Amino acid sequence: MEIIEAKNYDEMSQKAAQLILTKVKQTPSLVLGLATGRTPVGTYLHLVKDYQEHQTSYRHVHTVNLDEYVGLGKENPTSYHTYMKEHLFNHIDIPNHQTHLPNGMATDLQGECQIYDELIENLGGIDLQILGIGVNGHIGFNEPGTSFSSTTNVVELTPSTRGKNACYFNNLSEVPSDAVTMGISTIMKSKQIVLLVSGMQKAHILYKLLSEPINEQIPASILKQHDNVIIIADNEALAVIRHNGSAAKTPR
Ligand code: GLP
Repeated sequence: MEIIEAKNYDEMSQKAAQLILTKVKQTPSLVLGLATGRTPVGTYLHLVKDYQEHQTSYRHVHTVNLDEYVGLGKENPTSYHTYMKEHLFNHIDIPNHQTHLPNGMATDLQGECQIYDELIENLGGIDLQILGIGVNGHIGFNEPGTSFSSTTNVVELTPSTRGKNACYFNNLSEVPSDAVTMGISTIMKSKQIVLLVSGMQKAHILYKLLSEPINEQIPASILKQHDNVIIIADNEALAVIRHNGSAAKTPR
């Protein structure tokens, strides 16, 4: 597990975008796993800026997103489908049919989960997965307690996650109670994973991830078992690690 330190959010975003661009140039048919939330917004901004200036092409890239809310249609302004279009897909040359997110409107949600895992398999697996982390250590929407062997599944969101995400909705009651998320074992099959961590509010969980043993109460702790993970963290996110000394040097 490599840790790349960034001065601030923008530098973290630039470094992440640079890493993605290098991969896309090396492998034009890259299968790129994407995340939503506040954290990757700056990364997408840098990718769009690069596209405007250098036209790096995504014509052969496939993207697979981590998750989608249950009950929100593609056109719903608060769906992750809309988020991805607004932050990235509308501004680069990726064909729409090569961008994939779980369908939160599927009548058979269990079937949808299976279809999503099969889709990823048929694409040959994820080459590079971008991840954020929840303050409780969740990745995708895999909340604490989720089995490490989980495949894509339907999850009930914790009150803490619904509360955190309420800012994207008019009020808390509008935040869906469930989501479809790529499972932990699905994420772990990715060939490379880049975890982005920014801000004071993530400093404690980043410290816990690195200093505590791998356990299902900290879903992101499983990443220590993967042999190709890069964490890009900014100074604020590294604050507790620095304060407590050497945790970052003994990640397992
Ligand atoms: C959300 C998403 C995750 C994201 C995380 C952190 O609920 N499902 O994929 O990584 O929580 O979000 P943020 O980047 O806004 O802190």
